[in-house]
Amino acid sequence: MLIKVVKKSDVNEHHVTDESLYLNRRRFMQASVSGAAIAAVPFMSLYPAAGNAKLEFNSLKKSKYSTDEELTSFDDITRYNNFYELGLKKGDPKRNAHHLKVKPWAVKVEGECEKPGEYGLEDLILPSEHEERIYRLRCVEAWSMVIPWVGVELGGVLKRFHPTSKAKYVQFFTIYDPDNLPGQRRPVLEWPYREGLRIDEAMHPLCILAVGLYGKELPNQNGAPLRLVVPWKYGFKSIKSIVRIRFTEKQPATSWNLAGPREYGFYSNVNPEVDHPRWSQKKERRIGEVFKRNTLMFNGYADQVASLYESMDLAKYY
Ligand code: MTE
Repeated sequence: MLIKVVKKSDVNEHHVTDESLYLNRRRFMQASVSGAAIAAVPFMSLYPAAGNAKLEFNSLKKSKYSTDEELTSFDDITRYNNFYELGLKKGDPKRNAHHLKVKPWAVKVEGECEKPGEYGLEDLILPSEHEERIYRLRCVEAWSMVIPWVGVELGGVLKRFHPTSKAKYVQFFTIYDPDNLPGQRRPVLEWPYREGLRIDEAMHPLCILAVGLYGKELPNQNGAPLRLVVPWKYGFKSIKSIVRIRFTEKQPATSWNLAGPREYGFYSNVNPEVDHPRWSQKKERRIGEVFKRNTLMFNGYADQVASLYESMDLAKYY
C-alpha cells in the first residue's frame, strides 16, 4: 500500500457546519440521555439549524459499542480517503465521487447459503435496525480517525441468508465499473476490490455494514451506499461500495493480500507488536492532531475480540 506523508495543509482546515451541528446534537444527547433509557432519538428535532442539509436518518439508536472519544471532523472524514477506484491520492475520491453511481443498488448473495439471490439495498438494510456506532478507524498507513457511522450489525444481515455449515468464511466485492470508475482502468489492484472475514469474525457484533456517517447518507468517497466496517482491523478490510457477498468454505482471496502477501495478511488485525515490513505499527497519527499516539492492540477493542484469536500466533497470521 502506498504511504503518504500527511501534510499540515491536508488536515488543519476549519470544520464544516455539519460537524458543529453534529457536535451540538451529541452534547444534547449526552445531557438528556441516560444509559439504556433511550432507544431512539428523533434526529430532526436535534438539528434545529440544519437549513437545507440533506438529513437521511430520522431516528437512531445509540450503541453501547461506541467510543466517546472526540470525533474527527466531517470535513476530514470525507476529504482524506482511500478509495482506489476513485484515484490513488487522498483527495481523489472526493474529487471523483460523482463517477460512482449508487442508485439503484443491489447486492448479489451467493455461495454456501440457503437463500442466495439479488437483494435491493432497502431489503438488505432495514431502517428499524439503524444505529449510530462511533468507532476508531486505524489505517495500515498509521493514521486514524474517529467516525460516527450509521449502520446495522453485519451478523444480523448475514443470518437472513441462512449460511450452511460449510460457510466458514464470507467474501465481499466492490462494484466493478471501469467505464465510470477511473481507478479501475489501471491495474493497481486486482479488480474488483475484494475482502474477506472468517465467519465468526463476521458474526461478531462489532462488525457493521454502514450506510451513513454523521447522521447522513454515506458520501460516495466513503463507500456509498454500503460498506463494511471492522473496527479492530486495519482500514483496508473495511471494503466500500459492496455489490456481492459470497459465503465460502475456503479462505477467500483479498485484493491487498494478492497485491502484497508479505505485507498484507488475511487477518490484518491492528497489532502494534507486528510491524509492517516497511514501517512500524506502534504509533499512529489521529487526523486533526499534531502528536502521535500509541496504537492499541486490536485498535482498543481487545476486550471484545481477543477471544476470536486465542490459540493463534498473530505474528504468523498477520
Ligand atoms: N474499499 C475499496 N473498494 N477500495 C479501496 O481502495 N480502501 C480501503 C478501505 N476500503 C478501499 C476500500 C482502505 S486502505 C481504507 S484505510 C479505508 O477504506 C478508508 O476508508 P475511508 O476513506 O472512509 O476513511
